[in-house]
Amino acid sequence: MSHDLFEAARAAMEKAHAPYSRFPVGAAIRTTDGRIYAGANMEVASYPEGWCAETTALGHYLMDGGGEIAEVAVVAEKMARITPCGGCRQRLAEFGRPETRLHLCDDAGIVETTTLGALLPHGFSGETLK
Ligand code: THU
Repeated sequence: MSHDLFEAARAAMEKAHAPYSRFPVGAAIRTTDGRIYAGANMEVASYPEGWCAETTALGHYLMDGGGEIAEVAVVAEKMARITPCGGCRQRLAEFGRPETRLHLCDDAGIVETTTLGALLPHGFSGETLK
């Protein structure tokens, strides 16, 4: 059922701009009302200024109205079962919920499904700032 989300992530990965790391990554987000937003990592010559696939996908999602996230998929060309970096865990947690499903993929499909909460236990939350 979530294979289409993996395919969206893989298709996005084909558009990665990763000439420095040569480590293309794709991510895709599905909202509970069925919209899909995908993204790839985008590197620049000044290395720290680039960003991750998850962040590109979140940008598309937010600019199209955001909403409740049902599931997320991440895939990397050179790594089976990639997990989002620490910064992206925080960014995904901002818009998802602890129980939001996160699919870790290889080049054929979903390898493991976990949750955002499992990847960022005891995370810093916006609740703290209220
Ligand atoms: N990268 C992602 O796009 N997502 C992750 O969760 C981990 C890392 C990218 C950033 C950089 O362009 C390349 O992978 C190597 O770190």
